[in-house]
Amino acid sequence: MSHYSQKHLLGIHSLSREDIDAIFQSAAFFSECGINSSQKFSYLHGKTVVLGFFESSTRTRCSFEVAAKRLGAEVLLFQPQGSSVEKGETLLDTLETIDAMGVDIWVIRHSINGSVELMSNHSNGIFINAGEGNKEHPTQALLDGFTLLEKFDSLEGKRICIVGDILHSRVARSDIYLFQKLGAEVAICGPDIFMPDLREFSNIHRLETIEDSVAWADAINMLRIQKERIVDKNIPTTEEYSQQFGLRMKHLISKPNIIVMHPGPANYGVEIDHEVAHSPQSVIQRQVRNGVAVRMAVLTLLSNHNR
Ligand code: CP
Repeated sequence: MSHYSQKHLLGIHSLSREDIDAIFQSAAFFSECGINSSQKFSYLHGKTVVLGFFESSTRTRCSFEVAAKRLGAEVLLFQPQGSSVEKGETLLDTLETIDAMGVDIWVIRHSINGSVELMSNHSNGIFINAGEGNKEHPTQALLDGFTLLEKFDSLEGKRICIVGDILHSRVARSDIYLFQKLGAEVAICGPDIFMPDLREFSNIHRLETIEDSVAWADAINMLRIQKERIVDKNIPTTEEYSQQFGLRMKHLISKPNIIVMHPGPANYGVEIDHEVAHSPQSVIQRQVRNGVAVRMAVLTLLSNHNR
């Protein structure tokens, strides 16, 4: 049985292979038990989990809420809309105020890189990064890796291509770190304007076209354009982007065994067609389901580690 060693989950970058294995082993347990409301556990009984979502979310927030409740925790949702943030309350004021109510685990989504670490340095609570700026989205990468491991026995030597707006994507960064830690070869593809400096990563391939990506990859992860994080750039029109980098049925016909992923939310007809996202090659709904098991695992391991 692998051992999880971290106080918080701030990113994949700082996790060891053993930490990742521990999360996957625990997630496999929850997945096998069944992800449904009749499966309740008491691992977080007596704990309060705050969902601090300072940026919008459907999958991650709902998934953490379901996960925490099925583990027996009390769940408090904090969103800036309707809160005293609108009257000028700062992030650290909010933290100090809610901490004083006696909470244990903070699940934070925020648009500013470094917010979660800053909060963790001003509190005794346990912190989980639920998507921060363009830096990291560790539980998304963990559920992506867990989903791929249901298809492949191992990611060692497997080829995974991430297509789209890599520059502004926290999912891309966490996925690259995770897939490489698991031994996969990773490529990125997209317009120049959405490419990061390749020196940010080690051993990353750059592919130029969606056709090359499909031909190269065992699994392809399609990302949306992160318009909320793009300022002052001449980005391609939807039509241009879709034409050059969208994943269509014709691509799947040319590579019937490729696995199709998308972290959501998807813009159908732009980076991926609805038919592709709902094809037998797609594991997108499986990613969502596995998100609950992976988040149950993360919450349980962090709670145990800090006991
Ligand atoms: N994948 C993801 O983070 O989706 P949400 O923004 O809906 O949480």
